[in-house]
Amino acid sequence: MKTALVTGASSGIGRSMSFSLAKKGYELILVSRRLQRLEELKKELILLYPNLKVYLIDSDVNSSDLGEKIATASQKKVDVLINNAGIALGKDFVQDSQWSDLEMMIQTNIMANFKLVHLVLPWMLKHGEGDIINLCSVAGHHSYQGGAVYCATKHAVHSFTQALREETCGKNIRIMQISPGMVETEFSLTRFKGDQSTAESVYSGMKPLLADDIADMMQFMLDRPRHVVIDEIITMPMAQGSPTKVLRSTT
Ligand SMILES: NC(=O)c1ccc[n+]([C@@H]2O[C@H](COP(=O)([O-])OP(=O)(O)OC[C@H]3O[C@@H](n4cnc5c(N)ncnc54)[C@H](OP(=O)(O)O)[C@@H]3O)[C@@H](O)[C@H]2O)c1
Repeated sequence: MKTALVTGASSGIGRSMSFSLAKKGYELILVSRRLQRLEELKKELILLYPNLKVYLIDSDVNSSDLGEKIATASQKKVDVLINNAGIALGKDFVQDSQWSDLEMMIQTNIMANFKLVHLVLPWMLKHGEGDIINLCSVAGHHSYQGGAVYCATKHAVHSFTQALREETCGKNIRIMQISPGMVETEFSLTRFKGDQSTAESVYSGMKPLLADDIADMMQFMLDRPRHVVIDEIITMPMAQGSPTKVLRSTT
């Protein structure tokens, strides 16, 4: 029985990936702050796969006791880490942004992401096998105005992933990364702090990627034979040419 740890499982990409991994028979450890969402997800998963083992950890990924909770739930054996929890807050220029928002992005997207790898990688090395997929973004390759700090956090993830790949070379650990463009999830609703119409306008007149599209691609990465490592998938919807170029129909 293999165990997958998914952070940010209560919504969007992490939620979709939980279904995908459950279908493949992984035991799941699901982390996010909203317990009710996690409990609903667990119910749905168990209805589909009655023998599935699902552990819920309702915690902020920045919380200091998260490592201990994961160690207890996993018995220090994590085969797959979907390092997905992440956040964008605001789209203002730096001088107009609230420092607390910028700090939250740095803590969640960089510090917590790195800390999770620091936690599980020694266990994977000890077991002689493991797969890590880091959630980066096209924003980790191309910075845009109004996203200085979000883009910087994703550049940091990109850089971290690259170095990890060299460090783990030959150790049967697959370090992988996926960098999506626009995916319609709660991402924009969170970014615009619950402003539904602004969040919806992000995807107006175009067909964005869906969380299931990203889960499909990550599952494909995991399902390759062990000698095959897909370093990274960069994926955007047809209507997106770059983080800043989106073609919208006006009808
Ligand atoms: N959607 C896009 O267009 C897009 C594009 C490129 C990359 N990404 C990346 O994909 C990842 C997933 O985003 P998504 O699109 O699926 O967005 P989403 O629907 O907003 O999901 C984000 C998930 O992260 C969790 N999360 C956020 N902060 C957390 C914290 N401090 N502690 C614990 N969990 C936390 C949320 O759970 P709780 O609120 O319950 O804690 C939620 O489950 C992120 O890393 C994002 O940067 C998204």
